[in-house]
Amino acid sequence: MRLAVLTSGGDSPGMNAALRTVVAAGRQRGHEVIGVRRGYQGLLEGDVGPLDLADVEGITRLGGTLLGSSRSTEFPTPAGQEKARSRLREHDVSALVVIGGNGSLAGAHLLATDPALRVVGLPASIDNDVGHCGLAIGVDTAVNTIVEACDRISDTARAHRRVFVVEVMGRSCGYLAMRAGVAAEADAILFGEQKLGEDEIVERLRGVLRRCFAAGGYKKRALIVKSEGVAVKTSQLVERLSQHLAEDAPGVDVRETVLGHVVRGGSPSATDRVVAQRLGFAAVVAAEQGASDVMLGWDVPGGFGEKTGDPQVRKIALTEVLAETARLLDGTSPVLARRMAMLAQVEDLLAI
Ligand code: F6P
Repeated sequence: MRLAVLTSGGDSPGMNAALRTVVAAGRQRGHEVIGVRRGYQGLLEGDVGPLDLADVEGITRLGGTLLGSSRSTEFPTPAGQEKARSRLREHDVSALVVIGGNGSLAGAHLLATDPALRVVGLPASIDNDVGHCGLAIGVDTAVNTIVEACDRISDTARAHRRVFVVEVMGRSCGYLAMRAGVAAEADAILFGEQKLGEDEIVERLRGVLRRCFAAGGYKKRALIVKSEGVAVKTSQLVERLSQHLAEDAPGVDVRETVLGHVVRGGSPSATDRVVAQRLGFAAVVAAEQGASDVMLGWDVPGGFGEKTGDPQVRKIALTEVLAETARLLDGTSPVLARRMAMLAQVEDLLAI
């Protein structure tokens, strides 16, 4: 095979580990491997070159993506996709591995209409919003980064008896806030899928703060982890809370920290490296076996999809992946219902 690989959309820690494995496994199994720089935009511009082992040596530990990434505005158009297909033909590509999040996988599905091309997707997004994938590449590192940041913030918060509202990434999916919030001993966790209005959020948080700082209590800080997907701005929330602090938590003040892109960078955790490597290997094997229009998923909820040689990895049609992704994002997925139910069970324990 002449195997091309690209990384696309928001980068995530572990993309490089997946890339290195695709190159190593591809070459070791007798295939030529070429890299497409800057995602779909680079493909449109023909920014393509050979990749050998020396190019990817030592990159497993690196965050970001060696190939670069982009959010192309041209590729989503029919003309853009036609141009992408002709670029792939020009470079004689027989199989394409796309490493990226849900937008990138939607792009992979569109390219897979070419019968001469095998397209295999690997889920990589810190948001964990890819359907039929328990853990996307990058999520574990992002959760750990948030927890570490919250621990640091908690140190200074305790020194001053403060409330901190920490905003974390996760555009339409609150997974990072939910998971990291529990791990960081948050007193409250807010995410968009709760669909709470501003007043309701403020009332809930006031209740939490009253419990945390009740007279005779032991608490020295309150931590509120808020997903960026919550419709209310963090600054607005902090402003509203501060208006009631004298009454709810006398002597306590409130600060905000928006972690932003800090959460997306950094060296991948061991878990992300292993997940990325095993998915990368499975992608090469799947393409070799003639699979196309599929994604390889890690720890797939409900064991959906087809078995692969790796017990943790399932092969799922991209149409199914995209349909489940849509359900995750519109709130109708049973996976989301399960995540929220689990959090609801521990909610009362958060602010004790
Ligand atoms: O999709 C991953 C993500 O990091 C989201 O959590 C975030 O909202 C978005 O990308 C930020 O995108 P950009 O880097 O283009 O600002």
